[in-house]
Amino acid sequence: MTIRPILVIPDDKLRQETEPVEKIDSDLQTLIDDMFDTMYAAPGIGLAAPQIGVLKRLAVVDVSKRDGEQVPLALINPEIVWSSEETSFYEEGCLSIPDYYEEVERPARIRVRFTGRDGTEQEIEADGVFATCIQHELDHLDGVLFIDHISKLKRDMVWKKAVKLFKREGPQTYTPKPKPPRAEGDEAEMPDEL
Ligand code: NI
Repeated sequence: MTIRPILVIPDDKLRQETEPVEKIDSDLQTLIDDMFDTMYAAPGIGLAAPQIGVLKRLAVVDVSKRDGEQVPLALINPEIVWSSEETSFYEEGCLSIPDYYEEVERPARIRVRFTGRDGTEQEIEADGVFATCIQHELDHLDGVLFIDHISKLKRDMVWKKAVKLFKREGPQTYTPKPKPPRAEGDEAEMPDEL
């Protein structure tokens, strides 16, 4: 179990394109397991590879914190093949943008095609927070952040604040500490980090 350091804006790696995963081998599976460890420790409901400095098309999600149904899902080379015209709003946060939350409008339902941790091709349909989370993580694979979906005024404010902190104190990279299992209902009102 290895918890990896999480990059924080304005780190360049969060703005770059990523390469498709070419081979599913034990190195990749270790990377996936580390990503789950890091996400659960944060705690978050999703984590994309660029957030730990790996520029590959790979993300992990588990929204069970919200809906009680455990869905630890590794998404290798994911691709959204359909999204609904109907949209929904969800208050998003991001492990790479600490202490900032904002409502984001996205398609309410999506269908995503991907390769699983075991190498099998899969296609699933998602709605609710599950759909939000997958879209947020897939954005990361294209260097897109949730603040790109809010007003320019708000985005500039968040970005400038992060740049100022970076200039003053250097990169804000952090390594989450493993936490004891939460009691039922703990942090239930906290917004999600994705
Ligand atoms: Ni994020």
